[in-house]
Amino acid sequence: MRIAMIGTGYVGLVSGACFADFGHQVTCVDKDTGKIDGLNGGVMPIWEPGLEALVKANATRGRLTFTTDLPAAVEGAEAVFIAVGTPTRRGDGHADLTFVFEAVRELAKVIAPGTVVVTKSTVPVGTGDEIENILRQEGVTEVSVASNPEFLREGAAIADFKHPDRIIVGAEEEHAREALREIYRPLFLNRAPILFTARRTAELIKYAANAFLAVKISFINEIADLCEAVDADVQDVARGIGLDNRIGPKFLHAGPGYGGSCFPKDTLALLQTAEGVGVAQRIVKTTVEVNDDRKIAMAERVARALGGEVKGKRIGVLGLAFKPNTDDMREAPSIPLIKGLIERGAEISAFDPVARLQAEAMFDGIEFADSAEAAAANADAVVIVTEWDEFRALDLGTLARSMRGKTLVDLRNVYDRGDAERAGLDYFGVGRGRLNPS
Ligand code: UDX
Repeated sequence: MRIAMIGTGYVGLVSGACFADFGHQVTCVDKDTGKIDGLNGGVMPIWEPGLEALVKANATRGRLTFTTDLPAAVEGAEAVFIAVGTPTRRGDGHADLTFVFEAVRELAKVIAPGTVVVTKSTVPVGTGDEIENILRQEGVTEVSVASNPEFLREGAAIADFKHPDRIIVGAEEEHAREALREIYRPLFLNRAPILFTARRTAELIKYAANAFLAVKISFINEIADLCEAVDADVQDVARGIGLDNRIGPKFLHAGPGYGGSCFPKDTLALLQTAEGVGVAQRIVKTTVEVNDDRKIAMAERVARALGGEVKGKRIGVLGLAFKPNTDDMREAPSIPLIKGLIERGAEISAFDPVARLQAEAMFDGIEFADSAEAAAANADAVVIVTEWDEFRALDLGTLARSMRGKTLVDLRNVYDRGDAERAGLDYFGVGRGRLNPS
């Protein structure tokens, strides 16, 4: 099929490249000339495992092209996906739909009858209806509008796209359902379930899924706090409850709080939707508060591990991105942590395998090291903030000897307390027994 993908951000680029890899003819369009020039020259705007090879292979075969010319991209396309950003609107938590509606207005000038317009961006319930209204106002008829939310995790986006747990399609017309069934047909070989729903329902599924995962994380984080008070181990609690099929083992890793471009934004947008229709969503509201407070509390946690005072202390921070395998710094727990430590007078030496460029723009007055070992050298404490694979097998003995203090704060529970202590470190995990055992 011929597909146009509007927006070459994270979702648009991954989806466009994967559709092309299925054998469809895809044109990705973006207003950012620099981005499109880069993509045409093989330069990826984001760091995502496997993306560059996938883009290059499909571009070489002529199935994937990049342009700034929206009319040219849309001409002849049977389906037009909208994958532009829907950031949190400044000040009120609503999803900002400016880019979506701008794209629709441009689209309206050139779209042919019979085309299916599909929102892939995360958009509030009712956005599909609004898109339909705009198209109608612009004189466009015989165009179906469908919702097909994405559930990609950064760092694993290509695998997630090709092996989805499910494909959600919200559509009101059979014509749109048929088009989307055809687009995703290659995945049915892997028996990926496709769930057809009403359009508004599909829009809500995306928010409900992310909100539920956020609840799960905040739940286990609060249980971790309880473990620290009653001398229990949160990892065993997570395993003990996760073996119950009704609960499941995933998203029960206690840590410094969730970050990223989706959970913080989508939970706020869900709350705004609920408030707009006068329905309470107390669980999600509390989850947002728990997570915000937790991220801020991490600096204090590090200070406590250092005996309460970090002024003049040198702290090696390992990992800055909001999670491993991405250079994305949006809402990363490292941000309030580092800012909090700087405010308390600490000196920071930080290392991240790929997020340095993004991080440099965010922090003033911190040092960036070239390796985990360099960040730890001479430090009073080392804090693991992002569980990159390369931080999982550090030589703790060598690390301890290179440090000036001996505090290891492991905010991702990567290490075993016994191993760390044998290496001569004072170990502080999350929810693993009393916070200050001595
Ligand atoms: C998420 C959803 O998983 C995805 O389906 C959706 O489409 C977009 O949002 P992503 O933001 O890439 O994906 O990251 P994810 O792997 O879900 O992690 C989000 C945050 O939660 C990270 O900060 C991560 O460290 C944290 N997390 C996750 C935990 O603290 N504990 C966990 O058990 C799982």
